[in-house]
Amino acid sequence: MDKVRLSDGEYVRIEGPAMVEVLRGSLYLLGAQYETGAKVTILRARRVVAKAISDTELSLVLGPGGFADKPKAGEEMIDEWDSKLNISLKGSVVVVMGAMDSGKTTITTILVNKAASMGLKVGVVDADPGQNDLGPPTTITCSVLKSGRITHLSFMIPLRQVFIGSTNLEGNWHRAVYAVTKLVDYLRGREGADLIVVNTDGWVEGEGAIEYKRALVTAVKPSYVIVMRKGDEVDGLVKGLSQWNTLVLNAPPSMRVRDRNDRKIHRDMGYGRYLSPSRDLTLSLSQVNVVNMPITGRRLDERLARLISTYLKVKPIYVDALKNMVMVVSSSVKEPTLRSIPGGVALILQPNWENGLLVGLEDVDGFLVSLAVLRRIYYNAGKIVVTVPRRLSNAELASVRSIRVGSIRVNEQFEEVDKFSIIYRVERILSDAPFPSSQRS
Ligand SMILES: Nc1ncnc2c1ncn2[C@@H]1O[C@H](COP(=O)(O)OP(=O)(O)O)[C@@H](O)[C@H]1O
Ligand SMILES: [Mg+2]
Repeated sequence: MDKVRLSDGEYVRIEGPAMVEVLRGSLYLLGAQYETGAKVTILRARRVVAKAISDTELSLVLGPGGFADKPKAGEEMIDEWDSKLNISLKGSVVVVMGAMDSGKTTITTILVNKAASMGLKVGVVDADPGQNDLGPPTTITCSVLKSGRITHLSFMIPLRQVFIGSTNLEGNWHRAVYAVTKLVDYLRGREGADLIVVNTDGWVEGEGAIEYKRALVTAVKPSYVIVMRKGDEVDGLVKGLSQWNTLVLNAPPSMRVRDRNDRKIHRDMGYGRYLSPSRDLTLSLSQVNVVNMPITGRRLDERLARLISTYLKVKPIYVDALKNMVMVVSSSVKEPTLRSIPGGVALILQPNWENGLLVGLEDVDGFLVSLAVLRRIYYNAGKIVVTVPRRLSNAELASVRSIRVGSIRVNEQFEEVDKFSIIYRVERILSDAPFPSSQRS
């Protein structure tokens, strides 16, 4: 155990895992104030900066990899952040943007603590489906804090989630706009949140990113957009958001950064933590429907199936159809393929295409009931076998109405191994198509 003495106004930087106890004095940490006797936990791989607001003594217990030091002059942003965050919180919606490791999660935590200390009910939407703090990867999750204070967003309890199906929003951001809007409405309408903070993903550079962020603020209509700035990476974004009330905050120069591998490990741990211990479950296509693929469990009329297969020159194992899309399962292809056919589109999939795909099990309102992993579809029996967390209750399982297929494949250890990116195109074709009435016999 180490003791740290701080004079009034002095900073200490702590990297977890660490347990901090205020032995004497008072500490300001992530928008909350801790007095003598208070204990705080800093998680592994998180770095926080605290400020003494009187002569203060701390006891520090550091875990493996944890450390503490004092930032040099000009290295710390607490005061700058605090003065810029002097905004009206009650009744506001704040969207936090910025590149990866720019401090979005930290700012979100600060806003949550500030509002909670004022007695406000705070809602958070975690819209960073790759590096989530609240839910598992591939989801957008909301939560509320009614009282107390937190040192990390992951200490909040997930309340409602929407399945996004990917950890990267490029090619899939319309779904994120839908999800964030739905959860903001939920927090405002159903939970009566006084402040809603939306934490976003780190995709900020380039036309696509700016288009997405503009669509997001247009849908959510925030009172403030906070943009975290490391360098010139957010200049285009800030320009693109010029009609909105934008606050630009500088990231501290000594930010802890995660590399690609760190990020993947973080996600893999996220899937594993969520899904294990697990069990297999059989769902019937007569009770749940697949919302974003032409899988109905009702084989397409024999004559039509033969006609389509001949046209495509493939030997079919199974043929199904939804709207203007036909799905053909066939050993003739090695990878998922889309081809146009008269009157529509054919999706040709290799046998076993489904094994390991992450899917969302959704309720009647489109909220996620549980993440699951697709194992096998028994076309003739109309059954789908999925791996789900063992903790799921019967009531939760009974609320499942539909399955949404995602774009990530995991192995038996729930580690990302492969992508099923064709799902975005399939989804788009299906959602654009009208529903013809005369397709099925
Ligand atoms: N003032 C600070 N000084 C140094 N590191 C910090 C500071 N604030 C936060 N960090 C650390 O920097 C990393 C990235 O911050 P985070 O808020 O998670 O960014 P983002 O959500 O944008 O990825 C985290 O490990 C966090 O603990
Ligand atoms: Mg974050």
